[in-house]
Amino acid sequence: MPIRPWILSDYKMCFDIWQCFSESTPTKEVFRELAKNNQLFIAEEEGRIIWFVSYKTIWNESIMLQFLRIHSDFHRKWIGSILVKHVEKEVSRKGAYEVFSTVLANNIPSKKLHEKLGYKESGYIDFDSGKELVYIKVL
Ligand SMILES: CC(C)(COP(=O)(O)OP(=O)(O)OC[C@H]1O[C@@H](n2cnc3c(N)ncnc32)[C@H](O)[C@@H]1OP(=O)(O)O)[C@@H](O)C(=O)NCCC(=O)NCCS
Repeated sequence: MPIRPWILSDYKMCFDIWQCFSESTPTKEVFRELAKNNQLFIAEEEGRIIWFVSYKTIWNESIMLQFLRIHSDFHRKWIGSILVKHVEKEVSRKGAYEVFSTVLANNIPSKKLHEKLGYKESGYIDFDSGKELVYIKVL
């Protein structure tokens, strides 16, 4: 499955996928900033986006995985795992040595995916919206 950098005209389809899972979709400017730094990837099939993923640098050699969203027609096909591994390879090439990720405590699919890929639960943050577990993986 070819993976390519995000471009501005992708926003509408990313917005639609995001809306299926939560209401507060990041703005076009947030997507654009990540893309400018080459930190936002997508893949499409037959002209429609089926997933996207992003990361940001939180310290020099640590990165935070974010925006992992897969169109619901394509769940449980190992795409999420391939994406996370793609980001790990990309950031490792750029010198990062650990990846952080936060997952809502009630998001069982995402928790299981992280654990299967070797992420260790390392605490949690209490937000008004709910408890977010912090996962860490040393590359
Ligand atoms: C979470 C998400 C990214 C998983 O992507 P996916 O491509 O379906 O996951 P994979 O097929 O790679 O699954 C890998 C492993 O995770 C676990 N898993 C994934 N989905 C699961 C589910 N619905 N129930 C239980 N376990 C699940 C399984 O252990 C699976 O391995 P297996 O299929 O060999 O048993 C996807 O469900 C999604 O986009 N959800 C909505 C957005 C979201 O929650 N993003 C994460 C925010 S932190």
